Amino acid sequence: MIRVNLENIISDLSLSSYQKKVKLIDQQIKKKTGPGHEFLGWHDLPIKISNEDLDLMNEYAQKVRANYEVLVVCGIGGSYLGARTAIEALRGLKSNDPLEIIFFGQTFSSDYTFEILRYLGNKNFAINVISKSGTTTETAIAFRLLKNLLEKKIGKEKARQAIFVTTDATSGALKKLSLKEGYRTFVLPSDIGGRYSVLTPVGLFPIACAGLNIKEMVLGAIDAFHTYNHPSLENNEAYKYAIARDYLYQNGKSVELFVLYEPKLLMLGEWLKQLFGESEGKMKKGLFPASVSFSTDLHSLGQFIQDGTPLLFETIIHFENANNDVSIPFEEENLDGLNYLANKTLNEVNTKAFLGTLDAHVNVGQVPNIVLELETLNEKTLGHLFYFFMKTCAMSSYLLDVNPFNQPGVEVYKEKMFELLGKKKG
Ligand code: PA5
Repeated sequence: MIRVNLENIISDLSLSSYQKKVKLIDQQIKKKTGPGHEFLGWHDLPIKISNEDLDLMNEYAQKVRANYEVLVVCGIGGSYLGARTAIEALRGLKSNDPLEIIFFGQTFSSDYTFEILRYLGNKNFAINVISKSGTTTETAIAFRLLKNLLEKKIGKEKARQAIFVTTDATSGALKKLSLKEGYRTFVLPSDIGGRYSVLTPVGLFPIACAGLNIKEMVLGAIDAFHTYNHPSLENNEAYKYAIARDYLYQNGKSVELFVLYEPKLLMLGEWLKQLFGESEGKMKKGLFPASVSFSTDLHSLGQFIQDGTPLLFETIIHFENANNDVSIPFEEENLDGLNYLANKTLNEVNTKAFLGTLDAHVNVGQVPNIVLELETLNEKTLGHLFYFFMKTCAMSSYLLDVNPFNQPGVEVYKEKMFELLGKKKG
């Protein structure tokens, strides 16, 4: 379903030079023997998700859709990026779905928090609080504020009905609180880390609440599980992409710039930044992941990409077909000079922008470009794409000899902040 086009990477990359190492790593992933192997639960998750689990998520999602105007999804990092990516990508940025979805708990900004609480003051809302550890400060503060607001508005009993929790099966503050308060709870399996959790209830429950088809999304992921299960580079596009990234990194590139031609896919760029940045960026190694939206950013960063310090390569995620299209009308007077485009569609123009930019960046700017070619964006292809990137990321991180599943660097800012806030240790 995904074709990794390496025709524009300007290099003499040979697949065979990587094959031996790739086979070894493939075994490490499958036999769960590499560093961080206790967090490989996402690998065969697609074929393990049961219909009962999906039915329960859909049943609760129907309750949310039938009874509330707004769902507040409260989480940070892997506990919100996947859901937000899918909801924006599939519903669009100006959705007319009756259930509004707000993402909260990913900032300490007092202005944003104040505005959200003020907005929710007049709304009939439900909460899905998501935290594996149950102790993440941004999410915990946001949830405390939301819970207080809701209990004051509708009373403790009705608030209990409106709160859905997604957390670890046994441990953490949120688990304890849910047990005490009797909240309905979904489990994030303990062998799956936050940024690999989009296909668990962390992502799937809010996505179902958005009125999207999570069964199709899982079917796409099952398909990807089988498609990228092959150790041979000739037969595995996820691994092919991983070695191209590695090759470009080893040959002097330090930034991978994800390029999207759809504004509604901007959050996919954020999800990718977390997935690759947190998985690979350790021991002073790794590509810095960045993202742009074209053609918008061709009018800003485009200058740097074309002509600036040659530190980056681009990875374009290209969907051939648009879900909706718009024709450019003919005008007799042609005062804007646009009649040369009359009766063409915007998707045709967007495609030419993609092809022209590819030519300019590769052949004039000497910027290597990887193109990930897909046909149409829908639940199934997005589920497939999520899995494809997770598989690539595990292979890429192991090629760098780093543990893809921890994030020791993230703890450092927390320690410093807690010291300043006077939090007691332990
Ligand atoms: O990938 C990760 O593990 C992190 O980015 C987490 O998703 C993020 O820190 C949120 O953690 P938690 O779900 O424990 O609140």
